[in-house]
Amino acid sequence: MSKNILVLTGSPRKGGNSEMMADAFIKGAQASGHTVNKFDTAAKTISGCRACETCWSKDTACSFKDDFTELEPLLENADTLVFVTPLYWFGMSAQLKSAIDKFYAYAVPGCKRPLKIKESILMICGADEDPKIFNGAIETYKGIADYMKWQNRGILAVPKVSGKGDIAHTDALQQAEKLGTDI
Ligand SMILES: Cc1cc2nc3c(=O)[nH]c(=O)nc-3n(C[C@H](O)[C@H](O)[C@H](O)COP(=O)(O)O)c2cc1C
Repeated sequence: MSKNILVLTGSPRKGGNSEMMADAFIKGAQASGHTVNKFDTAAKTISGCRACETCWSKDTACSFKDDFTELEPLLENADTLVFVTPLYWFGMSAQLKSAIDKFYAYAVPGCKRPLKIKESILMICGADEDPKIFNGAIETYKGIADYMKWQNRGILAVPKVSGKGDIAHTDALQQAEKLGTDI
């Protein structure tokens, strides 16, 4: 079955390690016949949630206009959501997290267009060697997926990549492509 997959990236470094993982995943997913949209949160201006509790009062999910408005229809049409981020201070990048915070509108009782996302994936990379560096970000991701009732379809966490393109010297791009092919 062909799926509508949304890939949310979070690095401000264009063509960096996490974006290379995202592109490898997309290559695999498209080869398997899926439709893929890629949305670069770091190239957009998205504030975090303001906790104003006025979600949906203006027909958009968030009533404050920023680039999240562009993301809303992509989220609402997606079957599968893929988070791709560099590890920043033991967590996801702030750019990605700001977009995620606005998912709040889809979790409130008055949600007008509930998400139909059924499954999710996390791909993350960081500079340090110890795989434990990813624990916090992975727990955050798992908490989000559990809360939203999305099936976790895979976590790819790649340590020891720092400079732009370092990830090409690991097997992570093959693993990312396979996650895409198998989804
Ligand atoms: C602001 C900032 C915070 C970072 N924090 C961490 C960290 O906590 N742990 C770590 O191992 N690497 C950390 N890094 C390194 C990046 O995760 C690493 O270079 C990654 O490969 C960058 O991915 P990108 O090329 O997609 O941007 C940080 C880098 C930056 C710029």
